[in-house]
Parts: sequence; structure tokens; C-alpha cells
Amino acid sequence: MPTIQPSGALGARVTDIDLSRPMSAPDFATILRALGEHGVLCFPNQLLEPAALRDFSLRFGSIQTSLSGKFQDPEIPEVGILSNIMVDGKPIGLADAGQDWHTDMSYRDTMGFVNVLNAHKVPRRNGQVLGSTEFANMHKAYDELDPALKKKLENATATHDFNKFWDMMVKRGTANRKPLTPEERAKRPPAVHPVFLTHPITGRKVLYCNPGYAVRINELDEAESDRILEELFAHQLQPRFLHKHQWSEGDLLIWDNIGTLHNAIPDYTVAEHRLMKRCQVMADKVFQTDFIRQSLAA
Ligand code: SIN
Repeated sequence: MPTIQPSGALGARVTDIDLSRPMSAPDFATILRALGEHGVLCFPNQLLEPAALRDFSLRFGSIQTSLSGKFQDPEIPEVGILSNIMVDGKPIGLADAGQDWHTDMSYRDTMGFVNVLNAHKVPRRNGQVLGSTEFANMHKAYDELDPALKKKLENATATHDFNKFWDMMVKRGTANRKPLTPEERAKRPPAVHPVFLTHPITGRKVLYCNPGYAVRINELDEAESDRILEELFAHQLQPRFLHKHQWSEGDLLIWDNIGTLHNAIPDYTVAEHRLMKRCQVMADKVFQTDFIRQSLAA
């Protein structure tokens, strides 16, 4: 039976389980429940082979492979490579993934659910760990939102656009990204989701609106939408909702994109190597009542 040790605003450490082996239904139930409750789970000392990383991830839903087809494991394309390492002058992975606050794939009709990241190389300087990932707790952000704003946005929806984050990275100019072409934009049309979602595991409301992709609250005029989005973004990133994960090699981290935001901190140089293997799981199963009922009942 896995042991769960919760940390502060969110996050828990999970031991007494070997993720390289098929997981029993009761262990999966424990992990799914803990994921809903704590948002981010760290399994230390679990450096998995790509096939095992894929198989573990598939328990939560389908895996989204990279649309560009780049930076994937050569044999297991469901496993993506995030890295600043160059071999023969060529990058082996995506070097600037997730480097600001966002929620994975909120710009898709079927949003992202679980992100699975396995740390192979962690940058350090003078003994200090770099390249941490920060998280924000959207259950708490909803609970502590001004009641008048909750009422006003009760049935509101927000549009989420992939191009917002991409454009911000182009303007930042750190990673040679070019503006998306009209064809590339057409492959990733914006999506609309309620501003407040009922979380499929906890049954509680979460604030589902993130600075990376949310561009408009559809029921408000543009000026009011801009003002309220800024208010929501400032609210959801207050220090009391945050948790920072400092990586160790072998950590396998999973987080719930429905109940959290995250931000990869780019505080390391090209000479300080970071290598992560990633599977991105969609929320295609987790909103199915049967999947949740059966999984949690085991
Ligand atoms: C991501 O947003 O998927 C990347 C997070 C990280 O590399 O820490």
C-alpha cells in the first residue's frame, strides 16, 4: 500500500510503491484520490524506462504526443524529451517548455489532466538545485475567491488560446521561437471552458482560468473581461496557494492540471544540464463517471 506524506499548500510525497511494475487497482485508487486531494505527487527514486513511463501514464487517460513530432523517445513516441542538452550541435529536447504560469492544454476541447515528469538530470550551481517547478492550488483559489466575484462568474466561460503563451515566448525571445503561421494556428483552435469547474475526483469547485492561455471571459465586454482576468490571475498566484518542487534525479512527479497551475523556473544556463522525460495525459477518461466510480471504489 503506498504511503502518502502531504506537504504544505499542496503536494505530497508517495513511497512504498514501484511504478515500474503494473499497478494494482487498490493502489491506483489511493494514488488517484491523493492526486485530487494534494494536486502534485512526488514519487522519489523511480527512474523508469520509457515503456514503463508510458504504461504508468496510460492508467490516467490517453497520452497526447507532440503535434510537431519532435523531441520524442525514438521507440516510444508517447514519451517526450524536455532538455537544454545539445548533442553534435543539435538540441535533444524541448528547452523552454512551460516557462511561465499555465495549465497544460486548457486550449484544447479535451483539456490536459495529468502531467508525468521523470527527472534524469537536474541542474545545480554551488550545491543549489536549479530548474524547480512551482505549482498553485486552484481548489484553495476558488474557496478563497471574493463571494461577489464567485457569484458574478458562476456560469461564465473563458476562451483559452494556445497562441497567447506562444506569443509571450516569442516576445521574450529566449528560445528562437517564431510567430505561428496561420496553418499552425489553425491546427490549434481556441477552446472554451467554464471559469469554475467541478473537479472530477474531489467533487469540489476549482478556478479553471490560467494566465498562460485564458484570453477572454466570454460573457463580459472586452474591457471588463481584461480587468477581471487580471484580478483572477493576481488572486490565484498569491504565495499562500503556492508550492515549489525542487527536483532530485529519479523523482517522478505527477500533477493534476485541473486543480493546479504550474511554472517551470528557467534559472539555469545552457551549461547546467536539465533532462526530463514527460507524458501528457488528457482528461478524456477522468470526466467519465464510470471511470471515476470504478477507479476510486477499488
Ligand atoms: C511543463 O510545463 O510541462 C514543464 C515543466 C517543467 O519542465 O518543470
